[in-house]
Amino acid sequence: MKYIQPVTSLSGTVTVPGDKSISHRSVMFGAISKGRTEIDGFLNGADCLSTISCFRNMGVQIEQSGTHVVVHGRGMRALTPPEQILDVGNSGTTTRLISGILAGQSFSSVLSGDASLNSRPMKRIMDPLTRMGAQIESINQNGCAPLRIAPGTLHGIHYTSPVASAQVKSCILLAGLYADGKTSVTEPFLSRNHTELLLTSFGADISSETDIVTGAATASIRPCDELYGQKLMIPGDISSAAYFIAAALLIPGSELLLKNVGINPTRAGILQVCQNMGAEIIYQNQSLEGEPTADLLIRHQKLHGTIIEGSLIPTLIDEIPMIAVMAAMAEGETIIRDAKELKVKETDRILTVTENLRAMGADITPTEDGMVIRGTGHLHGAVINSYLDHRIAMAFAVAGLTADGTTQIQGSECVTVSYPAFFETLTGLCRS
Ligand code: S3P
Repeated sequence: MKYIQPVTSLSGTVTVPGDKSISHRSVMFGAISKGRTEIDGFLNGADCLSTISCFRNMGVQIEQSGTHVVVHGRGMRALTPPEQILDVGNSGTTTRLISGILAGQSFSSVLSGDASLNSRPMKRIMDPLTRMGAQIESINQNGCAPLRIAPGTLHGIHYTSPVASAQVKSCILLAGLYADGKTSVTEPFLSRNHTELLLTSFGADISSETDIVTGAATASIRPCDELYGQKLMIPGDISSAAYFIAAALLIPGSELLLKNVGINPTRAGILQVCQNMGAEIIYQNQSLEGEPTADLLIRHQKLHGTIIEGSLIPTLIDEIPMIAVMAAMAEGETIIRDAKELKVKETDRILTVTENLRAMGADITPTEDGMVIRGTGHLHGAVINSYLDHRIAMAFAVAGLTADGTTQIQGSECVTVSYPAFFETLTGLCRS
C-alpha cells in the first residue's frame, strides 16, 4: 500500500528501466541461439525474471547481475525437457511467446501462471498453433493456461489474426522457425515489431509489409537451422517513461529529462497523443540505429481532449490507463475507441480505469471498446484498487500527485512486474 500526496512540481533526470518487450525477447532468442548472448539494460522486473526462470528450467545457463545478463544459448533444438511446470507468473508475453518455441520442441511441457495470467485468453495462440500442427491444449478446457504443449510437426501457414497483437504475431513467427515452409501473419494494424527487428539480428529470415490503404500488416518468416547469439543494448521502456511524461505535463512548474527512451514508432503512440493534446515534447540525442532512441525533455503544458482510435491503438495499448488520467485533467472530451484489447490485459482495464477514475471524481463513461472522458481539470484523492495491475498502480500514483488530498494505492507492490523502483524514482523527482 502507498499513500500519495499532491506535489507542487517535478524536476530532474530519469533513466527508466530497460524495455520489457525487448528484454523478454532478448533472453528467449538468446536461449535458442548458438553461442553467447550478452545483454545490457535488461529489465530486472518480475515478468522478465519469469522468462529467465522458464529457460533455466530447460537447461539454459543464464547469468544475471542486475541489468547485465549473459545467456549461453543451446541452439534451436537443444533445450532440455523441463523438470517442473514452467511458471510464467503474471506475464502474458512469456506465455504466448514461449508457446511458439515450445510447439517446435521434441518434448512435452506445461505452462502455468498466477490467477490473472491463468484467466487471460490463450485460444488466440492455440488456434493458429493448432493449424500449424502443434499439440497444445488448455488443461482446464477453458481456453486459458495452464497449457500443455506436446511435440508436433509444424507446417507453414498464413494466419489472419483478428486482433493486432504482438504476442500472437510473435508466437506464430517463433513457431514458424520450426515449420516446414514459410509462415506469415496478417494483423489488422501493425503491432510492436520488436520480434521482427530482433529476430532478424539473430539471423532469422523475416520480411514485413503494411498495406497503406487498410493498415493491415503482414510479417513472414522462413524456417531456419540456427540462430546466432548477439550483443544487445536494450533502450529504456517508453511504457515506463509514460508515467513521467504524464506527470511532468500535468503538474505546473515541472520539467523532466528522460534519458535513452525507446521511440520505435510501433510503440511511441503516446508521444503522438501528447502532441495531439497540445503538448510539445523535445527530442534530444536521437539515434535511429536498430531500435530508435532519444532523450525526451518534457515541461508542464496545458492539455486538451483528443480522439484515439484505429492504427494508433496498438502503439499505445499499455499507456491507456495513463492517457485516461491525462484526459481527465485536460480540457474537453477525449474519446478512446477500437481498444477492446484493454479487456484482456492484466485486468479489464476499461473497468479498472473507470472505477478508479470515478473514485477520484472524474467524468468517464466506459464503452464496449474504450471510454469517453470529459476532462474537468481536477481530481480528488481516493482509495485506488490496483487489482494488482502494475499499470493501474502507476497511472493512479501519478493521478494522486495532481489530486487534492491523499490517494491510497492498494496493491502497489505489483509495480515489481515492470518497474520495481517506480515509487523511489518518483519520490526523488517530487518537489513539495
Ligand atoms: C507485448 C505486447 C502487447 C502489450 C504487452 C507486451 C509484447 O500485447 O500489451 O504488455 O511484448 O509483445 P499485445 O500486442 O498482445 O496486445
